[in-house]
Amino acid sequence: MSAALCLLLGLTALMSPAAEALDNGLALTPTMGWLHWERFMCNVDCDKEPDTCISERLYMQMADVMAKEGWKEAGYEYVCIDDCWPSHQRDAQGRLQADPKRFPGGIKKLADYVHSKGLKLGIYADLGKNTCAGYPGSLGYYETDAQTFADWDVDLLKFDGCYMDWTLLGEGYMNMSKALNKTGKSILYSCEWPLYEWPFKQPNYTAIRETCNHWRNFADVYDSWSSVKSILEWTASHQDIIVPSAGPGGWNDPDMLVIGNFGLSHDQQESQMALWAIMAAPLLMSNDLRDICPRSKELLQNRHIIAISQDPLGKQGYRTAKVDSFEVWERPLSKNRLAVAVLNMQEIGGPRGFAIRTAPGWKICDPRCNVTQILPQYKEMGVQTPQSQMVLSVNPSGTALLTVTPISSDFKGRQKLHWQDTSVKRKHATIL
Ligand code: GLA
Repeated sequence: MSAALCLLLGLTALMSPAAEALDNGLALTPTMGWLHWERFMCNVDCDKEPDTCISERLYMQMADVMAKEGWKEAGYEYVCIDDCWPSHQRDAQGRLQADPKRFPGGIKKLADYVHSKGLKLGIYADLGKNTCAGYPGSLGYYETDAQTFADWDVDLLKFDGCYMDWTLLGEGYMNMSKALNKTGKSILYSCEWPLYEWPFKQPNYTAIRETCNHWRNFADVYDSWSSVKSILEWTASHQDIIVPSAGPGGWNDPDMLVIGNFGLSHDQQESQMALWAIMAAPLLMSNDLRDICPRSKELLQNRHIIAISQDPLGKQGYRTAKVDSFEVWERPLSKNRLAVAVLNMQEIGGPRGFAIRTAPGWKICDPRCNVTQILPQYKEMGVQTPQSQMVLSVNPSGTALLTVTPISSDFKGRQKLHWQDTSVKRKHATIL
């Protein structure tokens, strides 16, 4: 091989990305919005429960509140329909149609309404024979359904994986991705491919990232702390496999935020919000925005936490330490900053102290750093050093969340954070 060719090949190898994102220009930061499933499930009885059944009214009312009560300004953009919206029969042309009684205006009208509020509409379908709740699946109809959703002006598709032979999952998800591209409309593509593949084999995250804008890895979230904990534990124990695949255009999806419902204490709600931001997770709330307590609303709209979630560097965080029933999670942010979450996993007793200099990422405080506490209260903690005596007080199942900004640009700790090295190609993002 000539030296020139060798050099060229070498350069190409250097330049080639670790993973390439689905190139539809969407989800450059984690998706934000609302999704009906966890809170409203498959309630189709609109005679008995007109306010909480799956009907066009529900999404119109949610869009009204989102536009009026600060949600849109905070960044929540997508109003998403989950399972149980369609009629049990396709129409004469083989197209999916909304249940005529619950969606008398049809989906196109609903999309127009949601767009008139400056928001976007998401819809749900399934790559198998049926949806998980037994409605018609898209198997054999990928192009028809993609075109129907595009004709309706839908902006996001959640594509579930029930009632499908697992060996055909990859092909199915890729074919629907192609069908969506073929419509010429940019439709954000939310997948559950790895969730359904994990029981059989380790999914190919490079292919998943090239196909989907986000992907569910693990079981459905429930309105309970044990559910949130199990998602965190699954994520941490698979982080070396899944974290490198996240970046602008494609994200791991640990499922919906259940903040504002019934099952989490306020400290636990703070933990979910903080950790979903650290995990660069889509922030899809499933709650009743028409009736939500002010504290939960304030937490969900906390601009400092949302800024971590939406940080333009687009790197997902890791669990970096587990000690004395504390967990430390850290996410690298733009401008060499770091977000640090300290979670108190001890569910007995009162608040416990955590010496922040023991967090692995504290290295970036060499020689000095500036610290801002975001949770449980916003507080400027000022300049700190490697010897900092700062002790965080963390409630049981609560989280302290900080951002740390190194002061000197040539701070010594930078090279030592091994988990900052993994990189995915960013096609659209500007790195600050
Ligand atoms: C699966 C998905 C959930 C939800 C339901 C709907 O369980 O993982 O998020 O969409 O199906 O039936």
